[in-house]
Amino acid sequence: MIQARDLRKSFGSVEAVRGIDLDVPRGEAFGFLGPNGAGKSSTMRMVAAVSPPTSGTLRILGLDPLTDGPQIRARLGVCPQEDTLDPELNVRDNLVVYGRYFGIPRSEVRDRADELLEFVQLTEKAKARVEALSGGMKRRLTIARSLINKPDLLLLDEPTTGLDPQARHVLWDRLFRLKQQGVTLVLTTHYMDEAEQLCDRLVVMDKGLIVAEGAPLELIRAHSTREVAELRFGVTETHQELVGRVADLGERVEALPDRLLVYCQDGEEVIAKVHERGLQPAAVLVRRSTLEDVFLRLTGRTLVD
Ligand SMILES: Nc1ncnc2c1ncn2[C@@H]1O[C@H](COP(=O)(O)OP(=O)(O)OP(=O)(O)O)[C@@H](O)[C@H]1O
Ligand SMILES: [Mg+2]
Repeated sequence: MIQARDLRKSFGSVEAVRGIDLDVPRGEAFGFLGPNGAGKSSTMRMVAAVSPPTSGTLRILGLDPLTDGPQIRARLGVCPQEDTLDPELNVRDNLVVYGRYFGIPRSEVRDRADELLEFVQLTEKAKARVEALSGGMKRRLTIARSLINKPDLLLLDEPTTGLDPQARHVLWDRLFRLKQQGVTLVLTTHYMDEAEQLCDRLVVMDKGLIVAEGAPLELIRAHSTREVAELRFGVTETHQELVGRVADLGERVEALPDRLLVYCQDGEEVIAKVHERGLQPAAVLVRRSTLEDVFLRLTGRTLVD
């Protein structure tokens, strides 16, 4: 569905994408995980055939976006990072008018709009003004709109950013159903739990480059430990100053401003030893490693700062 080789995008002197390779097969749910400015949206816009690559090769659905843009766009669904709904139109007409751009006959587009409103649970809002929708409802409407042309490939740029947990779970459920129906999903996110839930495979992006690639669990196994003991101390010493006192208890220790992370196989054992040493953390937590830990390991930074 997507093949890229040494793909690059510059804006003047800013290199947003600095040479990436991608291969996304049909039916896969593929993710770009990375912090602000990593180059995720710049990549998505090239894949959506709305932003020409500065260099490198790119094939979407086997076609070249430089020469076959309209043909590619006809088969894509695009959910941009910022909602671009038409505030002049009601909820249902946003779908109908968008569908008409694709040349879908009027009666057919109306039926499809109704089905899609049902799919994203907005049937009761069909006549409402877009401005009267909550953020989560707007996001669901944008996703419904991206499906009006029955796309083979759905591109979602941060589909759930800013939504509350319940709205995110509703969206995850809808996206999972689309995947089951055979739609290829490509999404960006800086939520590691979203990447873990939805993606068969993902790339971790940072500063315009891919720094790791694999299935979520593969990445965690390759770059982190089974468990993490999180220790929060009071304010008498900084977490950085305490690293030396726990460094030998795990395979690796990271000091964040608000906590120490001890990467280990058995977190409870680490915490017992911390107490044996007379250290008294104000709070402790044992958890399994996540993609956030992978990102921290690879870049030395957290995903959301
Ligand atoms: N149209 C543009 N003109 C100039 N610079 C741009 C443009 N679009 C993106 N950039 C720059 O390219 C870099 C990558 O931006 P991009 O939007 O691709 O990142 P992102 O990973 O999507 O980040 P975010 O998580 O904040 O959405 C940034 O330094 C950004 O300022
Ligand atoms: Mg972005």
